[in-house]
Amino acid sequence: MSLLEYIYDTYFKPGQEHIDYVLQEQAKAGYINLLLPDLASRVPWVGLPDPDPEFIIPEEDTPISVYTGRTEHLKMPVFWMPLSLMNPHLLGVGTTGAGKSTLVKTMTIRMAREGVPNILFIDFIGEYARFVEYFMKGKVVRLGTEGNNINLLDLSSTHPRLRVEQTLSALSSELNLDNAPRQRNILRRAISKAYKDAGIPISEKSISRDFWAKYNKLSPTMKDVYNIIRDMMKEEDSGKFMVGSKGGRESSEGMLDKLEKYNHPPYDSITSKSTVNLEKILTNPGVLSIDLSGFPTEDMKIMTAIMLLHLQEQFMRTFPSNTGEIRTFIVIDEAWKLLKLKENNPLSVMAREARKYGLALLILSQRLKDSDNDLFSLFGTYVILNLTEAEDINYLKDSLNLTSREVTKIRNAKRGDAIISLKVSQQGQVRFWITVDPILSTDLIEIVFPEVPDLDSIIKEVSKIY
Ligand SMILES: Nc1ncnc2c1ncn2[C@@H]1O[C@H](COP(=O)(O)OP(=O)(O)O)[C@@H](O)[C@H]1O
Ligand SMILES: [Mg+2]
Repeated sequence: MSLLEYIYDTYFKPGQEHIDYVLQEQAKAGYINLLLPDLASRVPWVGLPDPDPEFIIPEEDTPISVYTGRTEHLKMPVFWMPLSLMNPHLLGVGTTGAGKSTLVKTMTIRMAREGVPNILFIDFIGEYARFVEYFMKGKVVRLGTEGNNINLLDLSSTHPRLRVEQTLSALSSELNLDNAPRQRNILRRAISKAYKDAGIPISEKSISRDFWAKYNKLSPTMKDVYNIIRDMMKEEDSGKFMVGSKGGRESSEGMLDKLEKYNHPPYDSITSKSTVNLEKILTNPGVLSIDLSGFPTEDMKIMTAIMLLHLQEQFMRTFPSNTGEIRTFIVIDEAWKLLKLKENNPLSVMAREARKYGLALLILSQRLKDSDNDLFSLFGTYVILNLTEAEDINYLKDSLNLTSREVTKIRNAKRGDAIISLKVSQQGQVRFWITVDPILSTDLIEIVFPEVPDLDSIIKEVSKIY
């Protein structure tokens, strides 16, 4: 079968659900005209050839296929088929303005159309709120602004011992606990005590969510933790509670210094009782954006994002998927800081086990420098847009074995031009260039007023007729 026959066959077979949509797309790009002469044999193969159609063109029973763009040479349509790859996670990288957010919006709009039921955006800068509300008909939960709190210690029906460890890892990099093992221990003790003091039976072995759900309302906050550390210091001073050496006291003081600011506005939105039911929004999000742009500091956004991902990871375990379909896409743009987390990174855990829970990650970052190699290797799809920083390019060059010709092209790539690398088997990588076929924000603007043509153009139109 020739390439053209293959495309015609796969594509224009009636009864395919996406046929109208595909035809529209084809017509738009003049693809049908392009198909008529058999160009395949005449394209000079310089650099990366177009991929074999089997990797980019869906069949009738392909569960999810997301139209993304066109190949470099034959302008073949490229459908992303996450379930046909080694894993369904996608990592997109590109410098500012390279087209990352546009790629995300383009893909998620089409995913929703493909029937992906849940798409959860973790939005650091608030750029998805309008998009989700107006164009995806989804919901936005705004956190960090006045009256919109998220309690970092919220139990959310999870075993409190696990929440202690999750909280430590959420706070670890922002509070510099990695290099302060004593402070880490003090914090661990204090958080455990805060749960106990609140009447939550932390030593109970029960792992049922229903059991822990009873205690959700009692969840203490980091303010309680602050007070506990302060009291522990007082007791030590009065000689009642001789656990600490001199170094221990300094560590406690250091820990208090780091936590103090979160007792007061505007920093107390992570140390006050949650104003949203996290369990409810995370277990069945629909199309939802959690907007973290209201937090006053970058640190608070990261801590919250890590906490949310930990909870999501737990919820995911509670509801395994036996159908193998993707139920939830988690989308994180500007995720550089999360890619760097080496210890206890919720993204790594999710990426490893996501398939059996019907979860897939769509992660975008403008930088790769210092990324955790382990996490990096867990993606089944890499989209590499324009990159300029040598460190980022070298990182990719080493991990994906890019040739110097490819590197040059990445350095000079235009907006929306990208290399795609698909892990199609344990060893096999299919790599090719595409031009993203974007849904631009200008395509999304609703026309409120009918357009009135100006006089000049009316005269022109009329003069054409007569
Ligand atoms: N594939 C594309 N084709 C044409 N214009 C694009 C494309 N991708 C992005 N743009 C435009 O480039 C600008 C920056 O894109 P954006 O997606 O915000 O980049 P990033 O998120 O990487 O900083 C936007 O104005 C967008 O409209
Ligand atoms: Mg962006």
